[in-house]
This record gives sequence, C-alpha cells and structure tokens, in this order.
Amino acid sequence: MTRVVSVGTIRPSDLAAGKIMKRGTSPREISGASKGAATFDCVIVGDVMMDVILRCESEIVDSLIMDGTNYFSESKITPGGSGNVAVAIAKLGGRVAFVGKAGNDPYGRAYSDDLTSARVATRITVDPRMSTGLAVCLVEPSGSRTMLVSRGANDYLTKNEVTNALKKMGRPRFIYLPGYSLNASPQREAILHAARLGHEQQSRVVFDPGASNLVREHPDVFQEAVDRSDILCANLDEARVLAGKVEVNRYAARLSRRGKLVVVKTGVEGCLLASDGEITRIPGVRTRAVDTTGAGDAFLGAFLYSMSRDVGPVTSARFANWFASRTTEKLGPRNYPGRNEARHNLLSLQRKTMPS
Ligand SMILES: Nc1ncnc2c1ncn2[C@@H]1O[C@H](COP(=O)(O)OP(=O)(O)OP(=O)(O)O)[C@@H](O)[C@H]1O
Ligand SMILES: [Mg+2]
Repeated sequence: MTRVVSVGTIRPSDLAAGKIMKRGTSPREISGASKGAATFDCVIVGDVMMDVILRCESEIVDSLIMDGTNYFSESKITPGGSGNVAVAIAKLGGRVAFVGKAGNDPYGRAYSDDLTSARVATRITVDPRMSTGLAVCLVEPSGSRTMLVSRGANDYLTKNEVTNALKKMGRPRFIYLPGYSLNASPQREAILHAARLGHEQQSRVVFDPGASNLVREHPDVFQEAVDRSDILCANLDEARVLAGKVEVNRYAARLSRRGKLVVVKTGVEGCLLASDGEITRIPGVRTRAVDTTGAGDAFLGAFLYSMSRDVGPVTSARFANWFASRTTEKLGPRNYPGRNEARHNLLSLQRKTMPS
C-alpha cells in the first residue's frame, strides 16, 4: 500500500538555497538527446522527482515522525518520478521522450543528466524560483511505503510549455500521463491538455492514477483524465476508488466496452486486463521482493515498450509482470533487468502464445 503525504512546496527561502538558485533569470530548458521531428514510441509528460528512500521499522511510520532523531537502516538517493517509466522504455531499446519541470538546482540537473545518459530525449523546463520535486519514501519491512512529497517546480508546468514540447516531438504511439501530475494548477491543465493534443495527433493516451488518496481527493479531475485516456493502468486501490460502488471487474469490463484497454495491477498477484468487455487474469511472477517502489512504473514501461512493438496486450502484460517483479528485488526503483535478458524473455513469451 502506498500513502502519499504532501509536505507542501519548498521554496528557495525555506532551504536557504539562494546560492544555487539564480533569481530573476527567465525560465529555460535543460534539453538533451534527440530534438526535432523525431517520432517516439512514447512521450511522457510528468513529474521530475528525486527519491530519498529510507528503509525503516513500522513504528517510525506509525508515529510519523518521532521527536528527536529517527534512525533508518538503509538509504538510497535516486532519480524517481515519471522518469522511471521513460528509463524502463529506453533501457529496453524503445524511443522515448520526457517533458517536465525542475528547479534550478543540482537535483534538477542530475535528473536531466540521468535521463539523457539513458538515451531519453528530455525537455525539462527550469523554474528558477522553485526547487526540484523531492519524495522521501519510507519503506517498512512489509514493503509498505509512505511517501512525503514536496512537489516543487512540478506543479508549475504550463500548457504552453507542454504544447511547445509536444509540437517538436512528432506523433508518438503513446503519450503517458501520470495522476501524480494532476495535483495542482497549472500542471493539472497542462496534463489534461496533453491528453487532448494526444488525441488530435492520434497517439494513444495512457493514464495511471498513481495513488488512491489522490483519486479520492480530486474525483472530478481524475474522472476527466480517465475519460480522456485510451489505456487506463491503475492499481487495485485506485481502481476500487474509481469504480465506487461497482465491483472492479465489472467497472473495468464496462470501460473496455467503450473502447478502452484497462489494466488493473494487483501487486504480487500480477494484473488483470479488460479488453472488449472480457477480463483476463495474468498471474504475477514470484520473487523475493525487498522494495516495491517503482514497480508500477516498471510495469508500465515494459508494457508500453512491448505494445509499441505490436505485441498484444496479454503477452505485453505477462512481460510487464516479469519485468516489474525484477525491480522489486532491490531497494529503490529502476533496478531493471538488462536489455538482452528482457528481450529474450519477451521473445519466449511471444513464442509460447503463438498458435501451433
Ligand atoms: N511483491 C511483488 N512480487 C512480484 N511482483 C510484484 C510485486 N509487487 C508488485 N509486483 C509487480 O509490479 C506490478 C505493479 O505493482 P502494483 O500492483 O503494486 O502497482 P502500483 O501500486 O502502481 O505500484 P507502485 O507502488 O510502484 O505505484 C504488479 O502488477 C506486478 O507485476
Ligand atoms: Mg502506481
């Protein structure tokens, strides 16, 4: 289970970070990798977020936060956010671009450099007044996670910035939009606008709600995002909130009859797919899970990579279950299997599902 606690926006003054922020400079971009009229398998418009992952006992989370010093047995600082999906696709060999917003600080630059070195085309606008998004993830022995989030510059991504970025990217097969990015305006409008632009250019719009508490807090906004998506990829908690009084399978089947492809991720159990009113259960891959941070992103990255290679949704979901299970074996997101191993796995799954 994931709980997201917003700790508001850290401004430079809060951090006494004046030295690393150039005040008064106009917004600019950190761009990397390919530019121009390239077409992509997937364009992601989402959050630039550095993760600080702390492994801890449940008591610390229960009494969030104890007075005095709290000790954590293990820690990791890593780029996270929506870039997780981009890196998964790129590592598999897909063509992928990322659009987002960062602060003018070392975290924003590190985030962009990391994407660029993974061969993700980046269009990250810099807001000199804000800091880069930061998520502190408390991981309990059960694998349950609590996230303390400062969204920083992310919330300030604008419609114009997204329009300009997407115009330069040709027509991707998929545009992925995460629910986390619907938190506040103007980013919320920018994301919903990206869905509109995606439809105009006949890309398939993919939406992942991200966290059930956000769906509960902003029901109308999330409903609009679901309505505008062609593929809904939700976890079970999120699907339950979206479904309301309706049972999840029935809800998924109903959406799929309206032409959507619905994926409901069910953790260690795997996932279920709803297509043309039919539900298929796809079992998960058992592994020694240490931390499920980013499992949903790994799943989606592998699923979209596979779908963009014209592999059908059932085999793509099997592949995504395997790929995501592997990322749970170590602390932090992005512990992805190597490209050769992954492609070999996808190929053998395709062979298994070929009619004899
Ligand atoms: N403990 C686990 N063992 C094996 N596979 C797992 C485990 N947890 C998750 N997965 C895989 O990862 C996928 C996504 O996980 P989950 O259902 O938790 O989605 P999520 O809640 O969106 O993830 P996240 O917490 O990263 O947002 C699952 O469908 C499954 O394939
Ligand atoms: Mg998720």
